[in-house]
Amino acid sequence: MKMITTGFLLAALFQSIVAIQSSEFMIREATIDEIRTAFNQNKLTSKGLVEFYIKEIEKLNPIYKAVIEVNPDAILQAEKADQERKANSPKSSFGIHGIPVLLKDNIATKDKLNTTAGSYALLKSVVPRDAGVVKKLRESGAIILGKASLSEWAHFRSSSAPSGWNARTKQAVNPYVATMDPCGSSTGSAISVAANMVTVSLGTETDGSILSPSSANSIVGIKPTVGLTSRSGVIPITPRQDTVGPMCRTVTDAVYLLNAIVGFDKFDEVATKKGSKYIPKDGYLKHLRPGGLKGKRLGLMRTYPSFGFNNDTETLNNFEKHFSILRQSGAILIENLEITNINYIYSLFNGEDIAMSAEFKIALNAYLKDLVASPLRSLADVIAFNNKYAKLEKIKEYPQDIFLAAEMTNGIGVLEKEALKNLTKASKYGFEKLMRENKLDALVTPYSDGSSVLAIGGYPGINVPAGYDKYGGPYGITFGGLKGSEPTLIEIAYGFEQATKFRKPPPVKE
Ligand SMILES: *[C@@H]1O[C@H](CO)[C@@H](O)[C@H](O)[C@H]1NC(C)=O
Ligand SMILES: *[C@@H]1O[C@H](CO)[C@@H](O)[C@H](O)[C@H]1NC(C)=O
Ligand SMILES: *[C@@H]1O[C@H](CO)[C@@H](O)[C@H](O)[C@H]1NC(C)=O
Repeated sequence: MKMITTGFLLAALFQSIVAIQSSEFMIREATIDEIRTAFNQNKLTSKGLVEFYIKEIEKLNPIYKAVIEVNPDAILQAEKADQERKANSPKSSFGIHGIPVLLKDNIATKDKLNTTAGSYALLKSVVPRDAGVVKKLRESGAIILGKASLSEWAHFRSSSAPSGWNARTKQAVNPYVATMDPCGSSTGSAISVAANMVTVSLGTETDGSILSPSSANSIVGIKPTVGLTSRSGVIPITPRQDTVGPMCRTVTDAVYLLNAIVGFDKFDEVATKKGSKYIPKDGYLKHLRPGGLKGKRLGLMRTYPSFGFNNDTETLNNFEKHFSILRQSGAILIENLEITNINYIYSLFNGEDIAMSAEFKIALNAYLKDLVASPLRSLADVIAFNNKYAKLEKIKEYPQDIFLAAEMTNGIGVLEKEALKNLTKASKYGFEKLMRENKLDALVTPYSDGSSVLAIGGYPGINVPAGYDKYGGPYGITFGGLKGSEPTLIEIAYGFEQATKFRKPPPVKE
């Protein structure tokens, strides 16, 4: 009797070890399609998937600082997803049902998780409701695994703070090359996906914050047309440029996530009503098609924008090879293009972005007022908190120069209106004119260069992994287009990805 029990226990133990090992093998780098197949073949459960990621976060997060909080209810949500799948509930058979998602910590959730933009200033704030995109994620059966780290306040507090730094988790680390800039501000969203701490994540972009960390961490990032995804419940910089988008290991995964989060939201009514017009009737999946590059007209700038963080000649030469691959796949490259007003657009980097400063104050004050509870109700309160906190904790904080400049503004006055007019003109007679005159499907830029051109006009862009430099540091390539051109950009990005398959996971840490 005793023998049998022991034998049975041993067998059970052996079985569970095998299950863990085989599922680990399967989960790293697994795509949503592969995970769903494993669900259907009873080789994996959502609960097993979540448990795997929680273990990986416990192991890797002390090194990478990519996650701020893990959702205490994630396993419960996974169990519910598993039950729904067992019961053959209709929604459980497609999309992102049962798939764990990490959210950048500026995206609100009405649950046990805090929403703080990485700052202690918001730790006691209570949000009124889920962000619009979170509501949609829950409806599609996704599992909210937790909150990802970010450059504090989406890098709109301090111009001297490094990318990926915030007060709560401190400096995030690039999993490929520890000394390389992990970029931001959606730093943790990028790292967690790259290092297999989650299946997919959401980031936000105002100017480069999805595209740039995607490039630096070898993942796919989609920066949607402003208004295609709701910004309600997102700690704002400016509604004129803010957008929420997928950060994933493959274009296909990113398209699954995009499908789930696009669409109308009454709490971001005007923008999402306009944005909804761009959504294809049966979604974006059909644009993942072989031969998607055939006949596409792609524009190349005469000079690469000079603010690229990676200016290695060897890397730039590799782009010449990439351009050849695009041509071989049937794309038509239009070279030596120039954008009128490009210098004006770059000048915005030198603190000349007058409009954004004023818009930020208005938008942040509105966000803080809308909270159910919060000791801080205005930008002025946040600035005062930061000053007091630094003294109290006897820590050297990065200066809050961007906050201070914003606090000095007083609504949209004469100067701001002029700046806004300039921005509209720069888009209309710059990027839009270039795209239409050359009948371009996309503008192609190395890394995430060109993100500012896309930012000021609310245009979409997709970054796809494009290789590694001689130190193993990743870099991507960005395809940007006119408003609502996501279907075309997806065809191009998918075409490039399938022709190259550059993405590889970072070196394993044990
Ligand atoms: C949210 O913040 C509070 C501190 O105010 C903390 O006790 C709690 O654990 C946090 N929630 C999670 C899920 O980490
Ligand atoms: C990048 O390199 C080019 C030529 O190799 C140079 O003209 C440009 O100034 C460099 N940019 C930066 C940011 O170093
Ligand atoms: C707008 O553009 C004009 C002409 O380029 C320039 O002189 C002016 O300084 C700009 N104004 C603002 C507020 O950016």
